[in-house]
Amino acid sequence: MTQPVIEFKHVVKSFDGHPVITDLNLKIIPGEFFVLVGSSGSGKTTTLKMINRLLQPSDGEVLVFGKNVRDYSLPKLRWQIGYVLQQIALFPTMTVAKNISVVPEMQHLPTKQIHQLIKRLLKEVGLDQSYRFRLPNELSGGQQQRIGILRALAGNPAIVLMDEPFSALDPLARESLQQLVLKLHHQYHNTIVFVTHDMDEALRLGDRIGIMKNGKLLQVGSPKVITNNPTNQFVADFFSKNNYSDLNKILVSQVIEAGFLITPKLIVNQRNVPSVEKTSNLKEVLRILASTALVGVIGTHQETIGFFNNESIIRFLSTI
Ligand SMILES: Nc1ncnc2c1ncn2[C@@H]1O[C@H](COP(=O)(O)OP(=O)(O)OP(=O)(O)O)[C@@H](O)[C@H]1O
Ligand SMILES: [Mg+2]
Repeated sequence: MTQPVIEFKHVVKSFDGHPVITDLNLKIIPGEFFVLVGSSGSGKTTTLKMINRLLQPSDGEVLVFGKNVRDYSLPKLRWQIGYVLQQIALFPTMTVAKNISVVPEMQHLPTKQIHQLIKRLLKEVGLDQSYRFRLPNELSGGQQQRIGILRALAGNPAIVLMDEPFSALDPLARESLQQLVLKLHHQYHNTIVFVTHDMDEALRLGDRIGIMKNGKLLQVGSPKVITNNPTNQFVADFFSKNNYSDLNKILVSQVIEAGFLITPKLIVNQRNVPSVEKTSNLKEVLRILASTALVGVIGTHQETIGFFNNESIIRFLSTI
């Protein structure tokens, strides 16, 4: 097996004697887009910060390219790791060009090359070259976050850590930046660890997703595995934490109106699929989906009008 880029081995992190991460074990492989998802306080940021040594584990080991992060000099470790934060954190008194060139300058890249790099990077995120002279407060939130991503990529790091980078943006800006990050990821083949509390974002971006709860990884798998085989209680746990406790008040008809019904045409094998009615509620749907991959919806004349799977329900829930 290829050597993992990042590995957590029995990692524990406590603050003032209270453990917030307990026995975390995880391997992230080269070129992977790994998404950590979980509710507030579940330990996502803490996990991320142990990779670039903003925090030290209380016990266990964090390895980067097979070497304990403790054994790197801090600059050597950080140069291979780009970091994008939730709050836009550009240096306010520096122009866009200066912000992007912080790491390349530390790496003593020749000025001419830095200019070319800035030119290329701005082009890649669809910003005109005149933007290089602007200050951060002369940019929109989405533009600032674009520059934040470029700043993290400018040193060509093997690893990029992103902590809820789009949560302050409106849905349109968010979607376009998700596309941008995927494009850059495919172009640069870097390994990304991306934190979000938004399941829809996780499913859209991740090669693999890790679900965190109370400092533990509940489940790790591809979007397909996660949505088709949620570990027992996963759906209920994740969504009850996010104020989805009133699932029995949401009717199947509402999910259909929101556009999340899968048309019968797309389902190959429709035999032996359990079904619900339009007046059934989501709790009943999820109870069925806990043990089977598909549930049918019966119309007024007892005909099957469509289907739900876990993914469609999770996508619906992440919109409310
Ligand atoms: N420096 C600190 N001192 C004490 N407790 C801390 C510290 N940093 C984090 N914690 C606690 O550790 C737990 C995990 O925090 P963390 O920031 O990792 O959560 P998170 O999953 O990133 O949450 P969010 O989605 O709200 O950002 C929380 O209970 C938090 O209060
Ligand atoms: Mg956090």
